[in-house]
Amino acid sequence: MIAMPERNVFPVSSLLDGSMTDFDLFLSVKGEDILYAAPGYCWTRDETSRLLAEGWAEFQIQKSQAAMVRMYLQLGRLPKIEKDEAPARRINSLQDLAASFTQCLYSGEVTGAAVHYGERIARGIVECLVENPSSIKEISGLMDHDQYTFYHSARVAVFATAMSINMGVSDEKHLQRIAVGGLFHDVGKKDVPLEVINKAGALDQGEWKKMRAHPFQGYEALKAAGLSLETMEIVLHHHERMNGSGYPHGLQQSGIMTEVQIAAVADIYDALTSSRSYQKRRTRYEALDFMKHKLLGTDISPAAFRGLVASLT
Ligand SMILES: [Fe+2]
Ligand SMILES: [Fe+2]
Repeated sequence: MIAMPERNVFPVSSLLDGSMTDFDLFLSVKGEDILYAAPGYCWTRDETSRLLAEGWAEFQIQKSQAAMVRMYLQLGRLPKIEKDEAPARRINSLQDLAASFTQCLYSGEVTGAAVHYGERIARGIVECLVENPSSIKEISGLMDHDQYTFYHSARVAVFATAMSINMGVSDEKHLQRIAVGGLFHDVGKKDVPLEVINKAGALDQGEWKKMRAHPFQGYEALKAAGLSLETMEIVLHHHERMNGSGYPHGLQQSGIMTEVQIAAVADIYDALTSSRSYQKRRTRYEALDFMKHKLLGTDISPAAFRGLVASLT
């Protein structure tokens, strides 16, 4: 039993099948609050149906956990993925979902439920690409710059997964760790003002400092979430470059994990082929040509670049 003067109610009907709650849920039994689900609890439709059938329509929750509850409810409003959609259609639905998810993330907190949701999207991406690798060629849409930030993470997850498959990674769990890294790689940008992210001219010193902080800020936001080494390395080091000119640590090639090298190539390719306020988008050919002649061997890994070419052609 716990005394909770500061509390709200949470409808049982808001619990979604397959989701995880990262806040305490109490049942009020004869005036006493009994803890029913601690953070990390995973829900099934069967369980919520049973609770409703037994007459439990609501839980009590603590007001101090309002931010977690808000994010959970926001995630619940995202569109659903139809499992039986054709792969080409499904990869685009997943991309839309991942973009809406990133938008949610930027407007709230990086909670446990958000990380869990991101992992589910990553699993969807991996399953779709393993089932039908060529569906990446159907990935649509070059976005205008306002949408860029949200769609970018989705595409980096998709490109990095497809590249990894082409480079011989077949273990789906491994692919998921890479896809999750793609999805979360820029989460630190939620603390960078959009006008800096989309600024048309060169960034001044202060703006550049904010921008360069995003890998570390993302790493900090996620470090308690229990994500894999590969995922965390992608978040922290996706701006490292083979010749040591990157940030935040100026690592050389040997210090950058292969998965990170792949994500970095996916990240650069997506930036080049997207329309930004300061840049006209390049075609697929122009982007690959630019990467080959300007970045290969100095900034980006040749093996990852070959993986990208193999995925797209
Ligand atoms: Fe980044
Ligand atoms: Fe990025």
